[in-house]
Amino acid sequence: MGNLKVNYTDVKGVTHNIENADDGVSLMELAKQNGIEGIFGDCGGGCACATCHVYVEGGWFEKVGPPDDIEFAMLDMVADVMKDNSRLGCQIKMNAELDGIAVTVAPTSGF
Ligand code: FES
Repeated sequence: MGNLKVNYTDVKGVTHNIENADDGVSLMELAKQNGIEGIFGDCGGGCACATCHVYVEGGWFEKVGPPDDIEFAMLDMVADVMKDNSRLGCQIKMNAELDGIAVTVAPTSGF
């Protein structure tokens, strides 16, 4: 067990403070391990489904950085719910720099 912290707001608006995230775990994997509602990770982390879509809150978006072209193309498929701070949770891997990160689970796209 790691000791990194992640704050999730799930798709119903419920807050979950995780305090034992491992270094290297993705925000999709961690959400599934902790039963965070609204994160499915259907493609297993392959950047091919967008069911791990989150909004990275506050100044954390600058730390995680923008999506690359492949991820952006995937997010573009859910453009109806995409925001400027959208990322795919499976593409964000935890490390000490992201300790305390806050993300909100995006609603399922209507496409
Ligand atoms: S789990 Fe499919 S894109 Fe993240």
